[in-house]
Amino acid sequence: MAVVSRPSTASAERGSVGSERAWEKAGRSRSPEKALERLRAAAASCRDCPLWRGTTQTVFGEGSAGALIMLVGEQPGDHEDLQGRPFVGPAGGLLDRALAEAGIDRPLTYTTNAVKHFKYRMRGKRRIHQRPDSEEISVCRQWLDAELEVVRPRVLVCLGATAASALLGGRPSIERDRGRPLPSDLAPVVMLTAHPSAALRQRSSEARHAAIAALVADLEVARREAEKD
Ligand code: URA
Repeated sequence: MAVVSRPSTASAERGSVGSERAWEKAGRSRSPEKALERLRAAAASCRDCPLWRGTTQTVFGEGSAGALIMLVGEQPGDHEDLQGRPFVGPAGGLLDRALAEAGIDRPLTYTTNAVKHFKYRMRGKRRIHQRPDSEEISVCRQWLDAELEVVRPRVLVCLGATAASALLGGRPSIERDRGRPLPSDLAPVVMLTAHPSAALRQRSSEARHAAIAALVADLEVARREAEKD
């Protein structure tokens, strides 16, 4: 059964300290869809950290404003930077497949990243991913907090350690903490799982299959939690 989204009646009027800057730039709206549109437009010209330099654009979240499940990755990659949409490259392809296997309809989720610009270094002509640092993550948190306020997902899934650490603080361990609800007041259920690119990095097809199966199993937990009344 595919997870459905609820009617998006959530008000985007509440505020939290973290997102206040984002709301100042975007302006509030009662309609969650409009609120996301305004946030997206405001984030497009964000220059609060140097990461925007050398990128094509801000990659804001996308999906349903009434999503029951929100997925948070680390930062856009090369494909995402060029297309302006989260998880559209190889990791996104794998995420799509895992979501489908777990019975989750991606368009009914909301997908975003902890950091909204692609951080990279050049190797020859290739742009090589670099992990964002804690300062960059914390400056970008305003947008993630505002997205959370609007969407108010029932289940928040952190994809990988960077997203988990950005949202939960500390040093979460994927192995120890994956696939079960964790203490957090960001959403009724907050979980973490491995980043889809971890499966892509596996050398043997056996290890890759095992990594994908584990990702699907965690997403199934998310689906079951989202379907609870
Ligand atoms: N990896 C991420 O963490 N996010 C994306 O959007 C793409 C790849």
